[in-house]
Amino acid sequence: MSIISLKNISKVYSSKYLSVTALHEINIELDKGSMIAIMGPSGSGKSTLMNVIGLLDRPSSGEIIIDGENVNLDMPDRKIASLRSDRIGFVFQSFNLLPKLSAMENVLMPLQYANNKPKNPTGVARELLGKVGLSERERHIPNQLSGGEKQRVAIARALINNPSIILADEPTGNLDTKSGGDVMNILKELQAEGKTVIIVTHDQKIADQCEKTIELLDGHVKS
Ligand SMILES: Nc1ncnc2c1ncn2[C@@H]1O[C@H](COP(=O)(O)OP(=O)(O)OP(=O)(O)O)[C@@H](O)[C@H]1O
Ligand SMILES: [Mg+2]
Repeated sequence: MSIISLKNISKVYSSKYLSVTALHEINIELDKGSMIAIMGPSGSGKSTLMNVIGLLDRPSSGEIIIDGENVNLDMPDRKIASLRSDRIGFVFQSFNLLPKLSAMENVLMPLQYANNKPKNPTGVARELLGKVGLSERERHIPNQLSGGEKQRVAIARALINNPSIILADEPTGNLDTKSGGDVMNILKELQAEGKTVIIVTHDQKIADQCEKTIELLDGHVKS
């Protein structure tokens, strides 16, 4: 069963002086519970595609179905934000943690925008920090964590709303081999639990650990 379906998706960035077509009529079907790599040279449209799938940015044309929901181009922002918050967890290359908040507080952040809050948010966050091996680091702020630990906090944060889809844009790009391996193992564990995991990467070794690779070139799907 497809959890993500993109039909003829195009994205054109246009301003007064220029127009860039970052995605050209992309068609993609991704199975629920799969782990997919997105590869391609710089500027080929990988982040644009992730932003469209993650409902952070609207396509210029085409149709998106995420987890059974048809995301119309004219859907109000509020509805899109709510879908995003329920269904999608994000992990970024540069972690994007809030520097003044502890690991625990960072993990709790997305609940501010959540529709369904757990009864015991701290308990859930504590469990997630345990799952990524950081029970002993709850009170540390990002400056007091290693790169690999920061990324594991970011993964715990991505999980707080129990999303069905995890989108990771170069999650190991700033990490050494060992920490990158730890992050990949956690992502694989999430897949084993039934989540759909999509990873943008430049690293063939990471793509080799995924079931499928989508290769982009100049905004087209190459294979
Ligand atoms: N906001 C924007 N306005 C105009 N053009 C944009 C914008 N964002 C991206 N682009 C252009 O769209 C194309 C695709 O960019 P995108 O960021 O998706 O590439 P990428 O594959 O993620 O590259 P990288 O590997 O360097 O991260 C590029 O040509 C880029 O210059
Ligand atoms: Mg990018």
